[in-house]
Amino acid sequence: MKNIIVTGGAGFIGSNFVHHVFRERPDWTITVYDALTYAGNRKNIEGLDPERVKFIHANICDEAAIDAAVAECDAIVHFAAESHNDNSLHSPYPFIETNIIGTYRILEAVRKHGKRLHHVSTDEVYGDLELDDPAKFTPDTPYNPSSPYSSSKASSDLLVRAWVRSFGVQATISNCSNNYGPYQHVEKFIPRQITEVLLGRKPKLYGAGENVRDWIHTEDHSSGVLTILEKGSIGETYLIGADGEKNNKEVVELMLELMGKDAKDYDHVSDRPGHDMRYAIDATRLQNELGWRPKYTDFRAGLADTVAWYTDNRSWWEPLKAETEAKYKELGR
Ligand code: NAD
Ligand code: TYD
Repeated sequence: MKNIIVTGGAGFIGSNFVHHVFRERPDWTITVYDALTYAGNRKNIEGLDPERVKFIHANICDEAAIDAAVAECDAIVHFAAESHNDNSLHSPYPFIETNIIGTYRILEAVRKHGKRLHHVSTDEVYGDLELDDPAKFTPDTPYNPSSPYSSSKASSDLLVRAWVRSFGVQATISNCSNNYGPYQHVEKFIPRQITEVLLGRKPKLYGAGENVRDWIHTEDHSSGVLTILEKGSIGETYLIGADGEKNNKEVVELMLELMGKDAKDYDHVSDRPGHDMRYAIDATRLQNELGWRPKYTDFRAGLADTVAWYTDNRSWWEPLKAETEAKYKELGR
């Protein structure tokens, strides 16, 4: 596999994956295929050798453009999506178009050209767990999505499964837990709070702040996806997680402490409707069958690095802040 397409490679996780593959597979070429929505930024992949990293500015829903790109590659790793729950509550349609129709276009292109596909998805397709539930999500957990975002991702996963079974498409799927790290849009929880504090404002916790997310550093997500792309069994679903469960209050308090502030100096704001209580991943299949292990499991160190990245890269996030906070104002959060 020498020539891969990365859809959504100018977004948060996609761009981190591009950097990861660029470093780890020096003989591969990478074509970033991205529509550059509000969430995409070419700066995320700046400075990489243009002989090895190409860029196609196009939409995955564009049948002719995705067909032409797929015809030229050995494999496609599909990250492109509308990715934020709060936006999906405000305006669901783009989620239906990009996440469902876009994935359908990619499936038809890989079917026609006989190319390998890895589809990147989320643990949110499984719905949520109770705080005291001893169970975690496994590849056999029934789908039970809560929001327009998670239901559109669930739909895309089911399309991939159907194209594998009915048309013999060579695809794998991964469902990962909440990522953090550099280049994450300031609409998401951790960057929103860090940048609020950098601007002299207070972090904003939804509801009581007791909701639990299973945090994974985006570098570990990248190594998981690369492992599945190279060694995964066709038709399989792999869960990627690093045993990083924390409630939102704990995350904000640690962040405030790392930023030299009073750990209790945050506000509670109105809760997200349908807010999932807890996500937790059992990554046994990926660990036992493919030998993957996460490396960045020290959350305190990872969060400190992330705080440092946003502190050092104000020019990257400052232009995004006003529009993002205006959307939150409309949602009352
Ligand atoms: P992001 O919103 O930061 O980036 C999405 C990227 O896709 C952007 O570069 C955007 O320009 C591009 N894009 C959007 N619509 C497009 C279209 N129609 N055609 C072409 N490009 C388009 O998202 P992210 O947080 O990096 O998430 C990437 C993937 O990982 C998504 O599939 C998401 O569901 C999945 N995922 C995310 C998380 C998380 O914690 N953020 C966790 C698990 C899985
Ligand atoms: P988010 O980053 O939107 O990811 P997801 O909804 O996919 O889990 O939110 C992570 C958690 O943080 C979620 O429980 C909602 C909560 N949250 C806040 O408490 N305050 C905020 O300002 C945001 C954006 C999220």
